[in-house]
Amino acid sequence: MQVNLHDAWHIGPVEIPSRLVLAPMAGVSVQAFRRQGRRFGAGLVCSEMVSCAGLHHGNERTLGYLRIAADERPLAVQIFGSEPSVMAEAAVMVEQAGADIVDINFGCPVKKVTKTGAGATLLDEPDRACRVVEAVALAVSVPVTVKLRRGLENGSRACLSLAPRLVEAGAASLTLHPRSAKQMYTGSADHTLTADLVSLVDVPVVASGDITSRVRAESVLAMTGAAAVMVGRAAQGNPWGLREILDGETAEPSREEVVAELILFMRETVRELGEHRATGFLKKFYGWYLGRGRFPRALKAELTQLPAIADVEARLLAAAPGARFVLARLEETLPQGEEVLLDLPISIYGGG
Ligand SMILES: Cc1cc2nc3c(=O)[nH]c(=O)nc-3n(C[C@H](O)[C@H](O)[C@H](O)COP(=O)(O)O)c2cc1C
Repeated sequence: MQVNLHDAWHIGPVEIPSRLVLAPMAGVSVQAFRRQGRRFGAGLVCSEMVSCAGLHHGNERTLGYLRIAADERPLAVQIFGSEPSVMAEAAVMVEQAGADIVDINFGCPVKKVTKTGAGATLLDEPDRACRVVEAVALAVSVPVTVKLRRGLENGSRACLSLAPRLVEAGAASLTLHPRSAKQMYTGSADHTLTADLVSLVDVPVVASGDITSRVRAESVLAMTGAAAVMVGRAAQGNPWGLREILDGETAEPSREEVVAELILFMRETVRELGEHRATGFLKKFYGWYLGRGRFPRALKAELTQLPAIADVEARLLAAAPGARFVLARLEETLPQGEEVLLDLPISIYGGG
């Protein structure tokens, strides 16, 4: 039976209002990205992966990833690590910070992570992977979910033997990105494996990988029986892509809309990361927003050379003057500033 993308579904007791999940992406999934994703129809959004060791050591930047806004929920915060007790401790902090779901990363293929025994390495260490899930599930009362790749090597089907054991250990939902760790992002996601996974477990499965259009989303849902699709790269600088998947709305946004969304994104990111960090962080977003034939290429190059974010804003408004009205309307409809932030419990900062 074909699932309607607008139908609500559940992970444990958490109701998710649509079948579209915004992917966790390191260096991308800041609060502004997640709030925007929710506004454009994502039913569930995810933080980027957060180091459990960083949380354990009270690293200030890592703790910053636990800042959650009221209007981005339901939200999953993803953690990575390989020590069950340290992962359990991190999960408790995530729950206290207000996340609706704790997600565990068993898919990251990046050396810096895999060499510590975390991420995709755990696909090859099923016993440890199960101990991690069990420890985390015992430590928190919110649902615990796991995001996996297919295995380490090309053609691996390791995810299929591991998945039922993860569910037994306490996973309430699984997301599969059916590429191997070795593949990184090359080739294509083999969703026949997602269909196999769905037939093996009785928890909702989310299909991740190469979901770029409504046609693709519907065919993957029909072919796999997955509960939802996850969208990553197609949403970078392109929240309209989410709307296309949900509603089949194919009209390109106007230049004014693009600039207004980008400036709002910049302002929120500055508030979250501070001007200094945001300046470098935002550069990749200029190309993502202004590309797709929306603006001449030279504009992106020009923006990345400007010294301050205020200069970028001014240049963008010069390129699309009407954007200031779209932006004003947008800002009016949004909760502003501190009122959207849930307070982090003092215990997270050690009372200091
Ligand atoms: C820049 C980038 C960062 C990513 N970071 C994470 C991450 O922190 N955690 C995770 O589980 N997956 C991460 N992924 C994988 C995505 O969540 C997703 O599974 C993958 O990109 C395939 O989906 P797509 O084809 O829709 O992009 C990342 C992907 C990209 C492109």
